[in-house]
Amino acid sequence: MDILVVGGGGREHAIIKKLRENPEVGRIYALPGNGGIAADAECYPVKATDIAGIVAFAKEHKPDYAVVAPDDPLVMGCVDELTNIGIPCFGPTASAAVIEGSKVFSKDLMKKYDIPTARYQSFDNVKDALYYLETAPVPTVIKADGLALGKGVIIAETREEAVAAVREMMEDHKFGQSGDRIVIEEFLEGPEVSVLSFTDGKTIVPMISSMDHKRAGDGDTGLNTGGMGTVAPNPYYTEEVAERCRKEIFIPTIAAMNAEGRTFKGCLYFGLMITKDGPKVIEYNCRFGDPETQVVLPLLDSDLLTIMQAVTEERLAEVEVKWKDDYACCVVAASEGYPVSYEKGYEIDIPDDVMPCVYIAGAAEEDGKLLTSGGRVLGVTAVRPELAEAIDAAYDMLDRIEFANKYYRADIGQRALKAVK
Ligand code: AMP
Ligand code: GLY
Repeated sequence: MDILVVGGGGREHAIIKKLRENPEVGRIYALPGNGGIAADAECYPVKATDIAGIVAFAKEHKPDYAVVAPDDPLVMGCVDELTNIGIPCFGPTASAAVIEGSKVFSKDLMKKYDIPTARYQSFDNVKDALYYLETAPVPTVIKADGLALGKGVIIAETREEAVAAVREMMEDHKFGQSGDRIVIEEFLEGPEVSVLSFTDGKTIVPMISSMDHKRAGDGDTGLNTGGMGTVAPNPYYTEEVAERCRKEIFIPTIAAMNAEGRTFKGCLYFGLMITKDGPKVIEYNCRFGDPETQVVLPLLDSDLLTIMQAVTEERLAEVEVKWKDDYACCVVAASEGYPVSYEKGYEIDIPDDVMPCVYIAGAAEEDGKLLTSGGRVLGVTAVRPELAEAIDAAYDMLDRIEFANKYYRADIGQRALKAVK
């Protein structure tokens, strides 16, 4: 069984390591992968957004199965194209990936099908948006419609900030066409929970919940990043909250996508906020989260490939999805200066015994050495029976990994730890 994995970050490394646990898995091709993933898969320099290149590669190497992990290729129709040439895939078609690809689509979907979310208005011209802001309450949240590398959300504390954000998106085209339409929505408060799920459009199986740490600095300060660390399960996601989410959000979302003729198959990610009025959807992603995947998959006690194939073949109800009764903590090590500007090309030293717990996000291989090549360089995950132990173990391993300009948050998991206590 040869598998093609599209993508090349820490999330893809976690998916590949998990797939490797199945002895039936033969070759794994990663497009483009990275210098660290190269230890577990054959990496080829085809960009995840080069759909024609991916299809050409697949025709030549004939993998038996494909996993398309990042948002852009999914939104661009990579799964449709691979399916057309006879390769079964894990991931939604373009028509379903629009749930992440367009915020206007996802907000309208939630409104139409009564799925709890922040109140909002969408705009396709600056004049109307600015007029609306004259009386809108602050803080308010401005979102670019399309994909924007996770940077298209601005929380504006004042009306001036809101006006500036709207002008940047719609007039200065800061996010290109992604900002041609925008959503302005109500600011919500409460703990955030990420819930990834497997769904084949008929059945939805939520994975273990997790908590991301999106800000660059300790105490949730500084700029938004792709994610500086995660813990799972998320203590704010109680059984009662989970049951409400299932009834009010998960099942209605799957039904809504079916009703729209956009059946979603793959990993549907629910970004939730547990407000005083109950759980509400902050965002949908059409894919595994990064770095959520790096804590969720290590806790999976079932075979990943078996589940993925069941999703593709629409028989998810038949397979067992089991979770370990443990906690996981992933701490990301970035290059100093991330997410703004940072240097690259420094040698990374990882002790052999730590390597199985490491997911490489941004590293290149040169002359047998691993060199930093990205903002987020790697994540290290520890799995332990108690959250405090998992946090300590992750930091102990991270201390033993060396590279110049290593930067990480020192407080990953502390908020969750307080909630557990
Ligand atoms: P996103 O890029 O959609 O993941 O949004 C980034 C972050 O912005 C989220 O993780 C939330 O912390 C925050 N956010 C998004 N929408 C809202 C909202 N309506 N109210 C409060 N915070 C929000
Ligand atoms: N960690 C958030 C995301 O993957 O979008």
